[in-house]
Amino acid sequence: MLQTDPCILLIFGASGDLTQRKLVPAMYEMHVMGQLHPATVVLGTARREKTDDAWRDELKPWVAKSARGFDEAKWNEFAKRIFYIAGDGTKAEFYQPLDARLSALAKEHGTRGNLLIFLSVAETLYEPIVEQIDAAGLVVEGKRWCSIDPSAKSWQRIIVEKPFGRDSATAISLNRTLGRAFEEESIYRIDHYLGKELVQSLLVLRFGNSIFEPLWNCQYIDHVQITAAETVSVGQRTAFYDATGAIRDMIQSHLFQILAFVAMEPPSLYTPENVRAEKIKIIDAISIPEGDEVARHCALGQFAADSTEGAYDKLVGVAPGSTTETYAAIKVHFDNWRWAGTPFYIRSGKKLATKRTEVVVQFKPPAANLFRKVPGFGGETPNRLVIEVAPRERLQLRFEVKVPGFGLRGANVDMELDYADHFKAEPIEAYGPLIVDAMRGDQTLFKHRIEVEGAWNAVMPFLDQRSAMARSTIHANYACGSWGPASADELLGRDGRAWRNEA
Ligand code: BG6
Repeated sequence: MLQTDPCILLIFGASGDLTQRKLVPAMYEMHVMGQLHPATVVLGTARREKTDDAWRDELKPWVAKSARGFDEAKWNEFAKRIFYIAGDGTKAEFYQPLDARLSALAKEHGTRGNLLIFLSVAETLYEPIVEQIDAAGLVVEGKRWCSIDPSAKSWQRIIVEKPFGRDSATAISLNRTLGRAFEEESIYRIDHYLGKELVQSLLVLRFGNSIFEPLWNCQYIDHVQITAAETVSVGQRTAFYDATGAIRDMIQSHLFQILAFVAMEPPSLYTPENVRAEKIKIIDAISIPEGDEVARHCALGQFAADSTEGAYDKLVGVAPGSTTETYAAIKVHFDNWRWAGTPFYIRSGKKLATKRTEVVVQFKPPAANLFRKVPGFGGETPNRLVIEVAPRERLQLRFEVKVPGFGLRGANVDMELDYADHFKAEPIEAYGPLIVDAMRGDQTLFKHRIEVEGAWNAVMPFLDQRSAMARSTIHANYACGSWGPASADELLGRDGRAWRNEA
């Protein structure tokens, strides 16, 4: 097994929801699975004063709840490697005590100068923290912040969580600030959807087989649907969500990662450079709608009231009359040879009928239908590949067969691979393998600066004043537990298509 280097994982935002619910449980899982170097240390930092033990006690119930197969003894073993330091990462004076603590931990645990920083704080704090890290003398080539053993080769890397800016301009500014402190090879823009097994499996399915790729183009594929439906509401995050919305929260980030893997050209070799280069190219090939096209290429919605809470724009923390979307569907076209004329419909929303993330690849009907005069044939176009990413992990390929018996009748059947049944493996928390990749220096599943900026350019018409018309009827325009606003059905209906809304 490829082992990580010994290192310190320094988490800014130790008291945050992401750290408790995802990051530490994921690190615990990685520890149990033997993926971490035994000397790995986790150092959390946040403003509130607390001891190492107090932080460990706070984390334990979260890990017990979120990590699979919680084991008290294994937790105790891992908890010994968890530490805490209080301080304000945006203030210069914090960096002297932080340096001293890092140096002491590195000496004690033998992590050398290796340091992986995880920014798990509010997006507005990213730049101030990175500026302080830079000013403190950290991560300048050849210069070590935490120089325990000056002769030892060491690395310092940074993982930046989404939202990576809120538009092209803020993403460029953040990239510049990061670029002043870190080399591009040391910057890991994380998207936890790329840690999901079935998202990674997309590349193997496409490029590890010969049966799909010849058909994977506009000649044979009618359209693609990418869905991330959630049943949850916005919870305690109203202020964050109201400034964000479904396009920023899910589409520009997570669903564009899936989009890139479904649509990109095959890299010549599976290396970080080649994979990332192809993703940059395909995001750059998105055709950006103009004028009236913007409203015709999207459907935006807000959930109505139900028995548990009011309509979105009436929630505490949401600006009265807010037009932030809790549901968005957009239609994407690529200006390239492979996909000319084949639309990709992408949708995501809160409080929908079910929790499901999936890709539906709908193939075109056979070029000539020799059964067209046979009664009982015809109807639905058969071939469809469904890649279900969550909550179940499965692949489903639909095709037409003859119904056994006399006469000639056709039926659509599905051939299915259920990952849990077949591989006897439950899904693991997506953050774990990604953080381990960053510890190994593997950037394949992290976003490049240019890709992030390109993704913002592609969604901006649906976010800025050009989307005003699409937002004019947004309030309470879909019922909780439904599949979104009627305008989303019309988006596909205008093209003679329908969403796959199967339970
Ligand atoms: C997060 C979004 O990035 O992803 C949340 O901020 C969303 O709003 C979540 O609920 C969905 O992630 P998953 O892994 O549950 O599909």
